[in-house]
Amino acid sequence: MSKKFFLETLGCQMNVRDSEHMIAELRTKKNYEQTDDVKEADLIMINTCSIREKPVAKLFSEIGHFNKIKKKNAKIGVCGCSATHLGKDIIKRAPFVDFVLGARNISKITKVIDIKGAVEVDIDYDDSLYAFDDYRSNPYKAYINISMGCNKSCSYCIVPFTRGKEISIPLDIIVNEASRVVKLGIKEICLLGQNVNSYGSSLNDKKINFTYLLQTLSEIDGIERIRFTSPHPLHMDDEFIKEFAKNPYICNSIHIPLQSGSSSVLKNMRRGYTKEWFLNRAEKIRELSPDVGITTDIIVGFPNESDEDFLDTMDVIDKIRFEQIFNFKYSKRPHTTAENFDNQISDEVSSKRLTEVINKHKSYNFDILKSKIDKTYDVLFDGTREDGIISGKSSNNFTVITKGDKSMLGKIAKVKIIETKKNSLSGIIVN
Ligand code: 5AD
Ligand code: SF4
Repeated sequence: MSKKFFLETLGCQMNVRDSEHMIAELRTKKNYEQTDDVKEADLIMINTCSIREKPVAKLFSEIGHFNKIKKKNAKIGVCGCSATHLGKDIIKRAPFVDFVLGARNISKITKVIDIKGAVEVDIDYDDSLYAFDDYRSNPYKAYINISMGCNKSCSYCIVPFTRGKEISIPLDIIVNEASRVVKLGIKEICLLGQNVNSYGSSLNDKKINFTYLLQTLSEIDGIERIRFTSPHPLHMDDEFIKEFAKNPYICNSIHIPLQSGSSSVLKNMRRGYTKEWFLNRAEKIRELSPDVGITTDIIVGFPNESDEDFLDTMDVIDKIRFEQIFNFKYSKRPHTTAENFDNQISDEVSSKRLTEVINKHKSYNFDILKSKIDKTYDVLFDGTREDGIISGKSSNNFTVITKGDKSMLGKIAKVKIIETKKNSLSGIIVN
């Protein structure tokens, strides 16, 4: 009988893809089966995130819980970003942990599970060319890594210390992977990297950049939709913005992480752009790509952020009217330069600013949704709701619901929007 593993994934899409790679390796090379029940697992793993303090705290409570309920002799492994930055301290603090596997080392999964006390967290380790076995948790959408690591040094961010230096995956490997998933019937690919639009910087061919990659992928026979996350505002050149607007395979939605609207805070964050640059890029995208969905990340309460600085952030929100905002209170992280900045902002002030951002978005969100009424969108269906209702995403990344059944899942259909829901659109299929 094959052994069973349980895997919990925290954090971003990069971690979701890393988990898929680990699942593939365990299934094909070690004959393991996945289970949703921790109690019956022979191997329990958590793929961790370290971007803010909260998920790290969750790691220890979670593994403590696993240790209490696990089967006798079941192994526990800690993988991912917190595994990298805490390393062997995890085993010191939780001696029942059998192995620690960093985000940059996941190709070693089939080895470490058999070595009690293994700690593999080398951030210079390069498994970008490793041929992982294939496994995808979503039958309609495929994540494809285009680069590993990050060469930026944003002063708040721990990622360069958990995922190491940036390496671009060679173009032919990406194209082969995309062609393979398209042949399997997958409709949408999502390209993953910490800074997707610095793609190519570590390759020895000047013509290869992110725009060139997008153009090359669009030529694959049968490809329908391309998304990517995340581009960096600094590298959004005109060539890219034009390609984004005119290429029919690229979805009409883009995540542009603002972080702050204040040029002075952006400087302290070492983001490399100003408020004006960000506005110029976002406005140009709105101009060339009508009806585009723009999402963003905002950090409030960065050290030294004054009321005036915060008003600049609110001003950018007013001007760009992001379709969605992911807001975070600044969280002090080890190894980062901002960790030692004076004038850390109190939790009270950060919380107040966070609420203001949320309320600002709420104040215009309804108008955004309402403006979509009577428009017709191509929707890729990927979920079922209550009886007879299905949901999917439009190219500009709105959740759209309509009447339909399971047979529609994985298909793209035209939906005319009739009404708005709290955070989604509802309509009728018209083709
Ligand atoms: N504190 C709060 N938010 C952070 N992010 C990254 N580092 C921190 C931090 N130290 C946010 C950024 C990034 C998103 C993935 O997480 O907004 O874009
Ligand atoms: Fe993803 Fe960053 Fe969290 Fe790592 S630390 S899982 S890269 S969000």
